[in-house]
Amino acid sequence: MIIDPRNHDPRSIYKLMIGSIVPRPIAFVSSISADGIRNLAPFSFFAGVSADPPVICFCPMVRSSDGKKKDTLQNIESTREFVVNVVSEELVGQMNLCSGEYPPDVDEFELSRLTPVESDLVRPPRVGEARVSMECKLRQIISVSEKPLGASIVLGEILRFHVQDALFDNFKIDPDQLRAVGRMGGPTYIRTRDRFNLERPK
Ligand SMILES: Cc1cc2nc3c(=O)[nH]c(=O)nc-3n(C[C@H](O)[C@H](O)[C@H](O)COP(=O)(O)O)c2cc1C
Repeated sequence: MIIDPRNHDPRSIYKLMIGSIVPRPIAFVSSISADGIRNLAPFSFFAGVSADPPVICFCPMVRSSDGKKKDTLQNIESTREFVVNVVSEELVGQMNLCSGEYPPDVDEFELSRLTPVESDLVRPPRVGEARVSMECKLRQIISVSEKPLGASIVLGEILRFHVQDALFDNFKIDPDQLRAVGRMGGPTYIRTRDRFNLERPK
């Protein structure tokens, strides 16, 4: 099968991408609006970028329903701060609830009953239940496309990590305690329990 994306509906291409680029980690992003309203939403177009300085990126798409920016992007453009929380198995229900398209005045911390814990260095709170959270300051936003299903790349520098003690051993994270989940295509997710080791060539 050869697919030229120019000949297909962007929704089909989106489906092709989320089914092929798997599994994807999930950034559960807390942000705050200029008016101080908290926001929490998951993003799986998410990756680590650099360790010195520590930088991550995630990609809010343009809403396909109304062509508007997502609240997370709007908030980060205004306040330049956010927190990336890691999604463990026990958080998937609340994470999914927070992915609904709610108006900007909805506080997804209240909606999901997740615990907002004050961050040390940024205004958006972190998710108290998350086993790892990263406080970030915005470095750059790159607009790739303003069309529906287009996206921006948000690059954030990690100013502080919060890691639950139980899963931290000399900077190694215990995956059995983190129990991170990843996203596949459609409504499918993956646990991180089936693992194997592969030593790199010298
Ligand atoms: C697991 C998961 C991953 C998602 N990944 C993305 C993503 O990478 N980019 C995106 O724009 N939306 C993604 N979404 C959808 C957003 O979470 C959703 O549009 C949400 O309403 C955005 O919230 P906001 O408007 O408060 O920022 C994802 C949803 C789920 C459940």
